[in-house]
Amino acid sequence: MLTPNLTVSAEGHLLIGGADTVALAQTHGTPLYVMDETMIRENCRGYEIVIRDEYNGRGLICFASKALSCKEMYRIVDSEGLGADVISGGELYTALQAGMPAEKLVMHGNSKSNEELKMAVETGVGRIVCDNLPELERLNCIAGEAGKTVRIMLRIKPGIDAHTHEFVQTGKIDSKFGFALETGEALEAVKAALAYEHLELVGLHCHIGSQILDTEPFAEAARVMLRFMDSIRKELGVTLPDLNLGGGPGIKYTEEDDPKPFGDIVRAILRALRESCAAANYPEPFVLFEPGRSIVGGAGITLYTVMARKTIPNVRTYVLVDGGMCDNPRYALYQSRYEALIANRAGDARSERVTIGGKCCESGDLIGDDMPLQPAGTGDVLAVLATGAYNYSMASNYNRNPRAEIVMVRDGEARTVVRRESYEDIVRNDL
Ligand code: LLP
Repeated sequence: MLTPNLTVSAEGHLLIGGADTVALAQTHGTPLYVMDETMIRENCRGYEIVIRDEYNGRGLICFASKALSCKEMYRIVDSEGLGADVISGGELYTALQAGMPAEKLVMHGNSKSNEELKMAVETGVGRIVCDNLPELERLNCIAGEAGKTVRIMLRIKPGIDAHTHEFVQTGKIDSKFGFALETGEALEAVKAALAYEHLELVGLHCHIGSQILDTEPFAEAARVMLRFMDSIRKELGVTLPDLNLGGGPGIKYTEEDDPKPFGDIVRAILRALRESCAAANYPEPFVLFEPGRSIVGGAGITLYTVMARKTIPNVRTYVLVDGGMCDNPRYALYQSRYEALIANRAGDARSERVTIGGKCCESGDLIGDDMPLQPAGTGDVLAVLATGAYNYSMASNYNRNPRAEIVMVRDGEARTVVRRESYEDIVRNDL
């Protein structure tokens, strides 16, 4: 099993956080997202402990809610003392509806609308991360009209490509996000931001990528960012108090994946940062991190019902399920790999290799190919593991499939936190 919260009962059923997945599929229907609340909370605490132990607690973990945005997630992270990163008016609205304090929110987006900026200003979002010069101009006007000064950060491209085999540092990262360091664009943006009357530049932000398995690219990003903060101090006489180092720690999707635990990653980042601060005699900044996947990814599974099995001799065997790219588009988008098993025979050997196909009218609608699985047929319950991040949040109504339900499991008990959409929901906005 990928994570310790998954076990097998005497009956051979897959349990998550002590709850029987076969019973959950029967009671709630499928497709069903099942999240383990205990594991989510442990992950939140795991991050906070490192900040406390390595950095005297001078930081804020902001859950990157793009990984899983629903009211209950904001309530959980809020009750654990975390903030949240929101990337749209919709995420901001959900967070506020859930009672999340606005000052603990970080607002992102490389193409925020005026309405979204207004909403962030009016509701008092703690930090708005600005991505480009026109946004600074628009935000300054909006803040001025509201009679406010807003706290902003600038998104910087530190020039680290973490997704290469050996990560590389280059000024030529082709990305639509943020201001480039190497070209001098970032320094110009800092000067521009400092000049606006209704903007208070409190710090810098960077995010070097997602599903990163190693510590060193992160540590290097921290060094690069601190060096830049030091050059701002030297050239402009301004000491910025905050540094937001984004998200990105990877999780174990398959048996072959070997990610560094996020605790090791954050520890390495904070050590690199402290060393850089000491070397430059720079006051240690207040740090923010925005983990998404590493908080919820491994805490979730998706349950499906097997509808049919189709063997094409000498080609492959398809196991067809009642969901697919509409609830998990990650194979279709990125050829992402997952582990899966038959939840009602979880103790049996996964003796076959199959392709798991979805129900959408699209050949590429697969959960995965060449996946080890117990021999499966109609009526079996299929569990796909480590689907807690970027599954529900990227779900769609393609083919007018209603979005699936989310249940949260705690101490063996499950409760619905997002209802399954109905056909009525599907036509709600049709005129
Ligand atoms: N902060 C910023 C500014 C980000 O852009 C992201 C992710 C995060 C934090 C959170 O990163 P995490 O800790 O989850 O790696 N849909 C893709 C992932 C896209 C991530 C985009 N940004 C997937 O399914 O793999």
